[in-house]
Amino acid sequence: MTRKTLIALLVAVLVPLAARAEADKKTERLWKAKCASCHGADGKGQTDQGQKMGIADYTDPAWQKAHSDAQVKSGIEGGVTREKAGKKQEMDPFKDKLDPAQIDSLVAYVKSLK
Ligand code: HEC
Repeated sequence: MTRKTLIALLVAVLVPLAARAEADKKTERLWKAKCASCHGADGKGQTDQGQKMGIADYTDPAWQKAHSDAQVKSGIEGGVTREKAGKKQEMDPFKDKLDPAQIDSLVAYVKSLK
């Protein structure tokens, strides 16, 4: 392999990786700004709001298994208004507050909490 090829290969691998790391950081910031007040920075739902509303631990493999990408997405887009075990669960819909790419990246983020 020539040096030029090697450099081209390295660039081809590293540039997208760096872009992805940047995107992940943005998503993490978005999660912390818009979601963590209820769901916790770690997604375990151990916040005041989380306990009051009985928010699940999204790092739990059982929760992950029970919630497909599509379900996570519709939850984020449409929000939640329901009652579970006597606790009122409320989350505002984010469909009009975030753009579709942000929602998709949050879906991936939530699914990566396992
Ligand atoms: C005001 C508090 C609050 C905020 C802020 C909030 N959520 Fe929620 N969220 C809830 C509650 C309550 C539930 C329902 C309980 C549960 O499923 O654990 C929920 C459920 C969910 C679910 C599961 C949906 C379902 O159908 O079961 C996902 C995914 C989710 N939230 C993601 C997010 C994301 C991403 C953000 C930030 C953009 C966010 N939430 C912001 C309170 C909140």
